[in-house]
Amino acid sequence: MANVVLIGAQWGDEGKAKVTDLLSKNADVVVRMQGGCNAGHTVVVDGVKFKFHLIPSGILYKNKTCIIADGTVINPDVLKEEINDLKNKGISLDNLFISPKAHITLPYHIDFDMGNEKLLGKKKIGTTHKGIGPTYADKYSRTGIRVEDFSEPKVLREKLEWIVPVKNTLLTNLYGMKSYTVDELFDWCMNYQDMFRQYMSDTAYLLSCALKKRENILFEGAQGTMLDIDHGTYPFVTSSNSISGGACTGAGIGPSYIDRVIGISKAYITRVGEGPFLTELSDETGMKIQEIGAEFGTTTGRPRRCGWFDATVSRYAVQLNSIDCMAITKLDVFDSFKEIKVCVAYRDTRDDTLYSMYPSSSHTLKYVVPVYETFAGWQTDTSNVKHFEELPENAKKYLNKIEELIGVPIAIVSIGANRDQTIVIEDPIHGPKRELLTKV
Ligand code: GDP
Ligand code: IMO
Ligand code: MG
Repeated sequence: MANVVLIGAQWGDEGKAKVTDLLSKNADVVVRMQGGCNAGHTVVVDGVKFKFHLIPSGILYKNKTCIIADGTVINPDVLKEEINDLKNKGISLDNLFISPKAHITLPYHIDFDMGNEKLLGKKKIGTTHKGIGPTYADKYSRTGIRVEDFSEPKVLREKLEWIVPVKNTLLTNLYGMKSYTVDELFDWCMNYQDMFRQYMSDTAYLLSCALKKRENILFEGAQGTMLDIDHGTYPFVTSSNSISGGACTGAGIGPSYIDRVIGISKAYITRVGEGPFLTELSDETGMKIQEIGAEFGTTTGRPRRCGWFDATVSRYAVQLNSIDCMAITKLDVFDSFKEIKVCVAYRDTRDDTLYSMYPSSSHTLKYVVPVYETFAGWQTDTSNVKHFEELPENAKKYLNKIEELIGVPIAIVSIGANRDQTIVIEDPIHGPKRELLTKV
């Protein structure tokens, strides 16, 4: 038995869903525990693309329990669409369970998200406009609507009756937007009463039963370490804890049940939205990565900013998440590159101090520049390679250097979007484990 947390080690879109899909095969339960439909998770099976926003990617396998847990936020419109889309593709949703404690994104949360961004102007976050921040803000202000409220229409209506006037005051006076009537929001909610009735279940209890039965639980992270509300590049972050610790609070299990943490990183880095990104390439090389890697957001379609692999970010992710081993995705994107750079440290331009770890102060970031090492490319197609030994020598050198820099073993290398384009170097779940203190 092993309970595994799978976490993005960069700014999201690292290929978490592909690795989740790979590891789901041997899992009994797959859980989404934080975030909402800001997530865009793509899995490609036999050339067929599946895009997930809320439902765990494990749903593609029959008989896996799939859980949308307490710490998530749910937009019912998006959930309904996703359910219908999967049903149309012949995927069964009989094993989907949704926590009564998950919070609901209402239409006004999306208005607030867009209104806030507009007010921020040049200082905007570059959110996905999915209402995520305002939904979590209401959760923490204790003015949120939860999934459980859909089964108690009287309670739901009472809540809306005191919440909606407050929201309307802000919508009309601060943002110049239209207001809502309690009736229209109540009717909108009631459209989804049956859907939630069908899938609602005490998911923390389900997990406790799975733990007792010694089943294998896989926690599918959304977003990435650098977007974590506490530890990311604040304020350019999302509104949930996307580090591994978020699996415990989000799913309602204790930390001692986590056996393993697997980090996912691309062979380079991408970021969608605003915020610092020191190894960003605003030139032809960046465009080349974007084009070959098809780096356009799954959720918003926005072009992703692209840049070189940054070991300071990875070391920070290893530390924050207690990552045991790493999966490196999209190595194939470099197949045609003559040379590839890796940021090995940051240098402070004020006094030449070298930082091997991502600086904890966002103000320091203004003064540092990346220090690069350059590697020769391999200029060979890797997309059909099945074993690490078969990779071109320069690709192996590149991966070995990354491993040395981040201080944890690379257990998986992904060389294409398809399920089978994956090299498993060592068993990521039972194989090598991080040294207690990383080598760096
Ligand atoms: P997630 O949010 O972390 O699950 O990642 P996304 O699904 O948003 O983005 C990753 C994208 O890269 C998806 O379109 C995947 O199909 C694709 N992908 C994943 N692994 C690889 C890989 O090794 N090579 C290539 N070329 N594409 C990949
Ligand atoms: P997955 O799970 C990449 C980014 C947004 C924005 C910031 C805040 O697919 O990796 P939000 O809408 O959450 O308030 O936006 O976070 N962001 C993501 N970037 N992948 C994601 O999810 C993201 N979810 C949010 O672009 O910069
Ligand atoms: Mg994504």
